[in-house]
Amino acid sequence: MDHFEYRDGVLHAEDVPIPEIAAEVGTPFYVYSTATLERHYRVFDEALAGMDHLICYAMKANSNLAVVATMARLGAGADVVSGGELARALKAGVPPEKIVFSGVGKTRDELRMGLEAGIRQFNVESEPELEALDEVARAMGVTAAVAIRVNPDVDAKTHPKIATGMSENKFGIPIARASEIYARARAMAGIEVKGIDVHIGSQLTDLAPYEAAFRKVADLTRQLRAEGHEITRLDLGGGLGIPYRRSNAAPPLPFDYGAAVRRTLGDLGCEIEIEPGRLIAGNAGLLVSSVIYRKQGDGREFLILDAAMNDLIRPAMYDAWHDIVPVREPGPDDPVAPVDVVGPVCESGDTFTRARALPHMDAGDLLAFRSAGAYGAVMSSEYNSRPLVPEVLVNGSSVAVIRKRPTLEEMLGRDAIPEWLS
Ligand code: LLP
Repeated sequence: MDHFEYRDGVLHAEDVPIPEIAAEVGTPFYVYSTATLERHYRVFDEALAGMDHLICYAMKANSNLAVVATMARLGAGADVVSGGELARALKAGVPPEKIVFSGVGKTRDELRMGLEAGIRQFNVESEPELEALDEVARAMGVTAAVAIRVNPDVDAKTHPKIATGMSENKFGIPIARASEIYARARAMAGIEVKGIDVHIGSQLTDLAPYEAAFRKVADLTRQLRAEGHEITRLDLGGGLGIPYRRSNAAPPLPFDYGAAVRRTLGDLGCEIEIEPGRLIAGNAGLLVSSVIYRKQGDGREFLILDAAMNDLIRPAMYDAWHDIVPVREPGPDDPVAPVDVVGPVCESGDTFTRARALPHMDAGDLLAFRSAGAYGAVMSSEYNSRPLVPEVLVNGSSVAVIRKRPTLEEMLGRDAIPEWLS
């Protein structure tokens, strides 16, 4: 459920008509709903009720400071994957003791940043990383709290570019070698092992791969405890999918996910950490765009938008589907006809969808891509020298621009012409 609905024939973000925002900031822009963000957090929190748990919002999905601050205010922790995200988490008010640091290639500088901030936990993904963290921590005279990410060799049955839990993927240590690597970690003076970490992929629409992975983690917990390790935390990663296409069957709900956690890991007495990103932010955001031209091609029609692949890359990158809706509500009897929805960027990959059945829209009309709050703005670029899209946060009837569109001067100002050319 989200808070983007038609009221009096016009799409609203909570209590704010989308055309009002468009008039204020221009198109294209991202708009997020506070009520939806909050709701998604609470749904997870309730799904894990009764178990000691911490929800570490995966900031990679949407790391705007205002979005992260919205999460922090609810009590969420953060899952960060770079020094940049760590800096954002701290600036947005996430307490360091609720920050976990994931990622397969943390640099020594990033490890140091995490230790200096006093974060809760490093999710370590390899032996060389373990060695580096031990070394950096000892040099600083501190110990690093660690969960080791295991690769359970489970097929998450999602898009290959976002599946992470198979042995062929670059993530984690092979689960079969866990015993040996945990023993090494225990011998390191700079490392304090706290738990096990697992994340098998993103946009999962089936609970079976989760259950399979969680059972392996449960077995490993028992085995490591028998070997004398104190395992008190289990980080289960993120990955629960969202309904991108409203006409399709909905994926399992956080409630069902919580039940699977309870079933497989509930008797171990561990603190459960989860790292949802997409489910928190995805359906809490729209990308709003204007039609520039409606163009008749050879046997097909094109809607050419002012948004492009640089603003929302998911269709080009993962063949992802985003529901597209006109901002003016179509009548029940308005005809729909197939159109290709494309951006102005000079490559054919800049196609949001082909032959999509949509109500008639013309130049100047506003439309919205749904489910664009996660992996939308964060993955945007200035390809074709198109300034980054602005972001807007709505809260009831309040509206705030949380990242403004850079001016052309600001965009050009980041480059420098060397002396020998001037
Ligand atoms: N934890 C770890 C270690 C991760 O790698 C990820 C996502 C998450 C948590 C959050 O997963 P989520 O709950 O959002 O599914 N750009 C792609 C998605 C990449 C996901 C990468 N890792 C997309 O647009 O579909």
